[in-house]
Amino acid sequence: MFSSLSVLPTDPILGLATLYEADQKVEKVDLGVGVYRQADGRTPIMEAVQEAYIRLAQQEASKSYISHAGWPGFTRACRNLALGTDLSNQLEGKLSVLQTPGGCGALRLGFDLIATSTPGATVWVSNPTWANHVPILEAAGLHAQSYNYYCPKTGQVDTTAMLQSLEQAEAGDIVLLHACCHNPTGADIPAEAWEALISLIEQKGLLPFIDMAYQGFGDGLEEDAGLTRKLFASLPEVLLSYSCSKNFGLYRERVGALIIKSPTVKQAEAVESNMARIARQSYSMPPAHGAALVTTVLEDQTLRTSWQRELDEMRSRITFLRKDLDTALAHYGTNDGLGNITGQNGMFSRLNLSEDQVSVLQRSYSIYMPANGRINVAGLNRENIPYVARALTSVSG
Ligand code: LMR
Repeated sequence: MFSSLSVLPTDPILGLATLYEADQKVEKVDLGVGVYRQADGRTPIMEAVQEAYIRLAQQEASKSYISHAGWPGFTRACRNLALGTDLSNQLEGKLSVLQTPGGCGALRLGFDLIATSTPGATVWVSNPTWANHVPILEAAGLHAQSYNYYCPKTGQVDTTAMLQSLEQAEAGDIVLLHACCHNPTGADIPAEAWEALISLIEQKGLLPFIDMAYQGFGDGLEEDAGLTRKLFASLPEVLLSYSCSKNFGLYRERVGALIIKSPTVKQAEAVESNMARIARQSYSMPPAHGAALVTTVLEDQTLRTSWQRELDEMRSRITFLRKDLDTALAHYGTNDGLGNITGQNGMFSRLNLSEDQVSVLQRSYSIYMPANGRINVAGLNRENIPYVARALTSVSG
């Protein structure tokens, strides 16, 4: 059966973790996979999540199946977090929400749903975008096109070029947007451009699909949801994939949701039943544990306050690390042209490095990052910043 299959290249992001682990060099730095790391390099279990875990272990009385929609209370808590309680209530009846196995599961479910109603539809993705977006949508049988997005010179979004290229999209095409903390660039669509983007989407009859994987890591929980909430408030039909991997530190638990706004209650019911059918044909129902932890945290005021405080601390630590790296690069005279490290948002920055330079950093300095020059800023710390800055100087100088 499988004799025709050949060994595939490793995943461009996840494969880095294996290479890093195998590296015997004492001075090595992991700026690869997008996971939050504290100063000692560990990815912590957040205090509120740990407490929820203890409560759950004492209270959970069964491991029987949960409903196809997910853990009780999770979909409501998640849509309230992403959309805000007011908007979420206003849209009652028009929202279809299913808990999914992580953000990837939500993306795949959304693309499968699109393919069910419009096989081979075109999805416009930013140039660049997260390395797994195109593989996921192509696996669902959809077709990818890219729109202009990032300007390496400014390290920001070129909104004029973005809008111009989206003018070529046709009615019914899907536009994949990053809600905040753009992966891989850290450059977000500025608030001044939101209205123009929304009216272009409206005029051309496009369907926005938002990927929200880093809420709370940019400017704050509310601020990071600004574009998403505007899209949901203004347009009749919107898809949102939500991930709790980063903001709850629940990476391996696979907690996410697919949230869809439909123009009518009747259509929302049809959408939800189709989502449930696709899920049933694939993984049946989502895993319960991580969603139970998230729900416990969000429904308990003390745990919620603790979670928000810890998330705020993570975000400000990343902001300080950006400044520290920038200062260290300035010290070696290399910060010009390497990137807009302090002007970018969230876990990532995109450095202006060629694939060759990235490869030298890996081979000669044991500094790991994907080939596109994306760095996970949270992988930096006071000890490794001088080493990283010197290495960057030597390869780009
Ligand atoms: C990343 O971009 O590094 C993370 O989202 C992890 C992944 O699955 O690629």
